[in-house]
Amino acid sequence: MILIGFMGSGKTTIAENIARELNVKCLDIDEEITKKYDTSISQIFSKEGEEGFRKKEFEVLNSSLNKDAVISTGGGVVTYKASLELLKSQSKHKIFYLDAPFQVLYDRIKGDDTRPLANQDREKVHALYENRLELYKSAGDFTIDTEKSIFEITQEIIDLND
Ligand code: S3P
Repeated sequence: MILIGFMGSGKTTIAENIARELNVKCLDIDEEITKKYDTSISQIFSKEGEEGFRKKEFEVLNSSLNKDAVISTGGGVVTYKASLELLKSQSKHKIFYLDAPFQVLYDRIKGDDTRPLANQDREKVHALYENRLELYKSAGDFTIDTEKSIFEITQEIIDLND
């Protein structure tokens, strides 16, 4: 399965929980990017801009999709056409969109200097959120309301994936 959703929606934590519960591997695309290129996400953004980051993200996503793992993606993966098409065209994994209201997400991510796109004015982050909503919905097979416990979210996704 693949988890998508905005920054702060809990993709990484929930993917780890699901993986532990099902005894499968957990693969975090951001983490794979930093391992493969031996640098931080912020460094990639500052050296190569968002476009450079998206290309690397696409490469890593592309080489991860054949793995039997719970895959946690970065929040902007759906904004890059090639990555969005890749997600939509694969059939190995069901895709779960983790949904939460903007303010909840913003309170979790504001000022996080490891997330270049969260570390800017509220209005700009809000615009990103608004622009992405339809993309998340179009890519997701299921929309998961995350305003409940991590335990409940984990179980819901496991049940839907069966
Ligand atoms: C991004 C989200 C981040 C990371 C990068 C860009 C985005 O991942 O991929 O900073 O464009 O929303 P998380 O969603 O795990 O924070």
